[in-house]
Amino acid sequence: MSDLQAIVDSASAAFSACTTPADLENAKAQYLGKTGRITELMKGMAALSIEEKKQLGAQINVTKQAVEAALNQRRDALADATMNAQLATEALDVSLPGRARAGGGLHPVMLTQERIEGIFGSMGFDVADGPEIENDWFNFTALNTPEDHPARSMHDTFYVDPLDGKPTDTPPLLRTHTSPMQIRHATAHVKAWKANVDKVSQPMPEIRVIAPGRTYRVDSDATHSPMFHQCEGLWIGENVSFKDLKVVFTDFCKTFFESDDLVLRFRPSFFPFTEPSAEIDIQFATGPLAGRWLEVAGSGQVHPNVVRNMGLDPERYIGFAFGMGMDRLTMLRYGVNDLRLFFDGDLRFLSQFQ
Ligand code: DAH
Repeated sequence: MSDLQAIVDSASAAFSACTTPADLENAKAQYLGKTGRITELMKGMAALSIEEKKQLGAQINVTKQAVEAALNQRRDALADATMNAQLATEALDVSLPGRARAGGGLHPVMLTQERIEGIFGSMGFDVADGPEIENDWFNFTALNTPEDHPARSMHDTFYVDPLDGKPTDTPPLLRTHTSPMQIRHATAHVKAWKANVDKVSQPMPEIRVIAPGRTYRVDSDATHSPMFHQCEGLWIGENVSFKDLKVVFTDFCKTFFESDDLVLRFRPSFFPFTEPSAEIDIQFATGPLAGRWLEVAGSGQVHPNVVRNMGLDPERYIGFAFGMGMDRLTMLRYGVNDLRLFFDGDLRFLSQFQ
């Protein structure tokens, strides 16, 4: 009897000493396995009489049950410990505030672009988009700026290596303005028109388009960035005059700046692709910039050579164009004094526009 109790005691002690389920399985084998101590006791009964077998068998069974109970108790304890450890490491603090997803938003210059598109859209202008890597023809030559024209030095151009690597006098370039879109859009418009009319004597539907986008020049300071944004405008028809330019642009400025107290000045200037040409200045009556003349765009009546390069007869078709700086309009609208803020990517600045 006391031998049997000793087995139970030693099994309990062995099980208690186990700290992992694997240890416990090993310890179990020593008592309940094929050659374990309880199994050996049972084997030893073979030689006993029936009466002895009955008696001892009953006692061994009780012992076995006690060992099994000790084993199960330890198993449960280890499982609980594992679970508790896991719960402790994966603890979830339900009192923590939720994690908000950072809200995105449009860049202030893109807000300006959307605004411009909306205003000109309401005046019947299409919106066109074109390549930022241009060629000499669209960026300069077709715009009445031949190779030796002094106006080319007005633009500090970024040139790009030709795709085929062969040296050329007219390498690809990053467009220095959005004006090449005048030619691209107008020629596509004229081509579509000519393909769709049986008689070209039928008047062409007017070209009325804006083309916003990125432009590039070798320049960098508080008011110049090597990459900046312009928006081109073009209106060509049989009867489009400088007066229309004034009306359209004045309306645009008043709507854009949400102010009727705004004066525009068309200051004579020079651009190769317009004749006459004018720089457009605006003056606010109120606000921090009140009284100062601020330049916002170049403009003019489209030069006959450019109209010809659009595939149109300059004796019949006439119109105006303008090109405005979208970054500058954004600075004026929000009172930002350093252009570089727009391109530094500082969220403290950018998030103010959301
Ligand atoms: N492309 C000119 C520039 O970047 C701006 C400009 C002036 C555009 C007159 C025009 C225009 O369409 O008519 O300096």
